[in-house]
Amino acid sequence: MSEDPTRIGVIIVAAGAGERLGRGMPKALVQCAGRTLLEHALDGVLAAGVAGHVRVVVPAGDTELRSIVEAHTHPQLTLTAVDGGASRPASVRAGLDALPGGVEIVLVHDAARALTPPQVFRAVVSAVRDGAVAVVPGIAVSDTIKVVTGNTVTATPDRTTLRAIQTPQGFDAATLRTAHEASVDHAAVTDDAMLVESLGIPVTVAQGDPLAFKVTTPNDLMLAEALVRQAHETAGEQQ
Ligand code: CTP
Ligand code: MG
Repeated sequence: MSEDPTRIGVIIVAAGAGERLGRGMPKALVQCAGRTLLEHALDGVLAAGVAGHVRVVVPAGDTELRSIVEAHTHPQLTLTAVDGGASRPASVRAGLDALPGGVEIVLVHDAARALTPPQVFRAVVSAVRDGAVAVVPGIAVSDTIKVVTGNTVTATPDRTTLRAIQTPQGFDAATLRTAHEASVDHAAVTDDAMLVESLGIPVTVAQGDPLAFKVTTPNDLMLAEALVRQAHETAGEQQ
């Protein structure tokens, strides 16, 4: 796999409605300690410095997220906004279609994981470069997770075998395209790795980070705001 950043593309999916956050606007547009979640997410991707091409997938018809993307011009990479679809996989496909043909490694990242540290991007890229076809960042889970059918518990998986899976997820580009072409859209497709898994292709787990949590509910946003403010205070103290 190439060391050349022009062979690496990142798709940031930001075309969701943010219904569970309940702010009446796409989640990526919501402010978090003075900046939008999309700006925080872009900061992480650009700080990681792994990719030559970034595509931000925004809701079709949106102008505000588009203008945030356009304000982020960067000398070392191509950065553009593209219209998303009605489902997350459709949005990822729109991002894939907008990447140049020479891209060999694709990272798919949720804008909602706005505080993902750069080292998670680097860990995922390095695992793909080392030969993994598909890589997901994962962290241990602290809750006991049960399988429930109706309101009856049918199984309790051994927690030590479970991981909470995050983004960015990294793929050999051709494999990710094939996995998306083979898939049928349904609500249960919540990440890209599961499409690759359904082809029988192994998926490797890299080290995730608690800071790569997904901002989904108002509580998550409160946590994100507190973390950004704390980081600002720490940076201020060091000056
Ligand atoms: N996403 C997307 N296109 C969609 C749906 C989701 O690009 N049609 C993106 C979201 O913008 C988000 C990521 O996929 O960055 C993870 O989705 P989720 O957390 O579910 O975000 P939303 O769909 O916006 O939130 P909700 O499900 O509460 O409406
Ligand atoms: Mg959603």
